[in-house]
Amino acid sequence: MKLLVTGGAGYVGSVCAARLLEAGHEVVVLDDLSTGHEDAVPAGARFIRGDIAEVIGDVLAEGFDGVLHFAAKSLVGESMQDPGKYWTGNVLTAIRLLDAMKEHGTPKLVFSSTAATYGEPREVPIPETAPTAPTNTYGATKLAIDHAITSYAAAHGLAATSLRYFNVAGAYGSIGERHATETHLIPLVLQVALGQREHISIYGEDWPTEDGTCVRDYIHVLDLADAHLLALENATAGEHRIYNLGNGTGFSVKQVIDTCREVTGHPIPAVVAPRRAGDPAVLVASAERARADLGWKPERADITGIVRDAWEFTRARHEA
Ligand code: UFG
Repeated sequence: MKLLVTGGAGYVGSVCAARLLEAGHEVVVLDDLSTGHEDAVPAGARFIRGDIAEVIGDVLAEGFDGVLHFAAKSLVGESMQDPGKYWTGNVLTAIRLLDAMKEHGTPKLVFSSTAATYGEPREVPIPETAPTAPTNTYGATKLAIDHAITSYAAAHGLAATSLRYFNVAGAYGSIGERHATETHLIPLVLQVALGQREHISIYGEDWPTEDGTCVRDYIHVLDLADAHLLALENATAGEHRIYNLGNGTGFSVKQVIDTCREVTGHPIPAVVAPRRAGDPAVLVASAERARADLGWKPERADITGIVRDAWEFTRARHEA
């Protein structure tokens, strides 16, 4: 297939682009490099630098079999302080994309949605049938796009899949997580192990969990990428399917830090800090629907292996 990967210079987008190329697809990456890195675009992909909202019509006019839409603003804290950036950058851009796909007859869409669409869960593990009540603007914008996709699929025959990611981690060789503004737990802990930070802050030790710290479902970026390929193969015209992607097992912040200590051999000092606004206590996925419908099987669910891959990537970049 000839596929357009928006945000293919970012963390998840670049890993997926690499896997799509390995699977024999033709890949064009569209990214404005606002947070991505041109050198993360895999060799073999054609790269177009541009703002989706401005160029998407011209790009899709050349004819594509599908779009994988990763490009987005994705910092929960920033979304609360500057919501306009998220409603414009995420929602308006996605509507432009959907309109351009309709105009040019692009048949398939895979969209990067998020566990943040659910908000504080009433039931854990979280199934796709759980109520959506996002606790932050980031999650609200992704949910709005999910709704838009549902109506475009029904009205215009789009074959669409939204994948709701839980906590993506790990790396694929030289492609990994390197945000200019890093807020994610594992990369921050690994910065401590590298000596770039003195300690990791634990955001709250008084949560209603076993050890008092928040619990998350960490999924390896390669397992996540595999689900995108399966979603493309299984999509049906006129249907919008939604799948949660996680391993179904939760790890607390303290367990993650302990795993990083074990993998890196560094003591990793930790200090307890106040809770972070917008954090739910526990987010764990039920990915039964993806397993049943797509035949998706995460193969790298072990947290030690996930951290090890992230550490190898981080250390290699540091030493380069
Ligand atoms: N945390 C710390 N200290 C830090 C950073 C994070 O204690 O320095 C804690 C957070 O409070 C949270 C956990 O570690 O409890 C994980 O935090 P991340 O920032 O790594 O990830 P989030 O769970 O906040 O969010 C991620 C994605 C969202 C997505 C969500 C869904 O960034 O886009 O997972 O599970 F919606």
